[in-house]
Amino acid sequence: MDKTKFLENHLVRRHGTNCYKWDDLESKFGDKDLISMWVADMDFKTSEHVVSALMERISQGVFGYSNAPAEYWRIFSDWMETRHHFLLRKEWVRFSTGCVTGIAWAVNAFTNPGDACLILTPVYYPFHNVVTNNKRKLVKVDLTYHAGHFSMDFQAIEKAVIENDVKMFIQCSPHNPAGRVWTEEELEAVLEICKRHNVLVVSDEIHQDITMKGHPFIPAAAVRKGAYAEIVITLNSASKTFNLASLPHSHIIITNEALMKQYDDFASALNRTEINVLAVAATMAAYQHGGEWLDNALEIIGDNYDYLKYTLNAEAPDIATCALEGTYLAFLDMRKCVETGHLREFIQDRCRLAVDYGEWFGENWAGFVRLNLATDPAYVRQAVRNIVGELKRI
Ligand SMILES: Cc1ncc(COP(=O)(O)O)c(C=O)c1O
Repeated sequence: MDKTKFLENHLVRRHGTNCYKWDDLESKFGDKDLISMWVADMDFKTSEHVVSALMERISQGVFGYSNAPAEYWRIFSDWMETRHHFLLRKEWVRFSTGCVTGIAWAVNAFTNPGDACLILTPVYYPFHNVVTNNKRKLVKVDLTYHAGHFSMDFQAIEKAVIENDVKMFIQCSPHNPAGRVWTEEELEAVLEICKRHNVLVVSDEIHQDITMKGHPFIPAAAVRKGAYAEIVITLNSASKTFNLASLPHSHIIITNEALMKQYDDFASALNRTEINVLAVAATMAAYQHGGEWLDNALEIIGDNYDYLKYTLNAEAPDIATCALEGTYLAFLDMRKCVETGHLREFIQDRCRLAVDYGEWFGENWAGFVRLNLATDPAYVRQAVRNIVGELKRI
């Protein structure tokens, strides 16, 4: 399908649908008339294959306790193999009701209150809350940042691991909001540190499918042919990829048998880990037939990013637009052109944009903003025009 046709068929005005993104502008930002570019979901309808599968399942009219069908495993493992060269086995997988829930369960299954958990900041804000809300000690190491590019500071990571006796590293891969798809070398280096110091790794890979050309994603459990799989707990889901966040359903993948036993002992105390039949139907249809939809969505996101980057580089060169290797979330460093204390006023009151602010992801990242690009190209153009125009007036 060409891009214009994709947009005609899938762009949707979500106002009045109880969505966080548009309908919560007033409660979240105090202004309902902003262009909404915060929260990570899409303004695209999901694949028509997903919609048909849901309709068909709904037409059965019975929603009693259910299992995932045998085909689920074939379809999910085919996706992981063809898209990510990862050979999955059914016995490695458990379900959870979302990746953040998966992190919370892993924290509870594998660490004790007071144990130290490491995150690399700036990072998706629930990573911070899950650790502190579960009464674990939060250890933060900043990513290294230079001119729009983020990388890991391995020395600082190892030092923090040793000094705090870290038990768990909660990793974001691909990284929200840094936009990085970690290379195999980077993943190997951080996993090696974890292995050396007996640190378990929870790898949140919810953005695994949203990568730009030339930036292949590698699951942490597949690094160096699985050399670190025994210390990795992987979390993934079709929800970010296919815009299904309100059908909570995700995977917890554990290849190490002893860890899986520990997880199952923990999970048995939770009692309810049944599947949601609609989420299962949607996930199967998405992984089986959604490839073309995803490829189209990625092209629109890539075009939106290119427009943003090239226009800002030309018209507002003091803004550093971070490289977008993965995710659909662009991170802009505005520190050279707007005083950080006035950034919210600039972005919201003058540019009329609702965005995620850098400090939400870590206190040292004020002055950055994150813009959601899985949206109408017209909104991206308007946002860029507003930023460039208002900068000229400062
Ligand atoms: C890295 C990351 N993990 C998890 C989530 C949310 O996942 P879920 O809705 O499955 O809890 C997001 C949403 O933006 C995310 O960016």
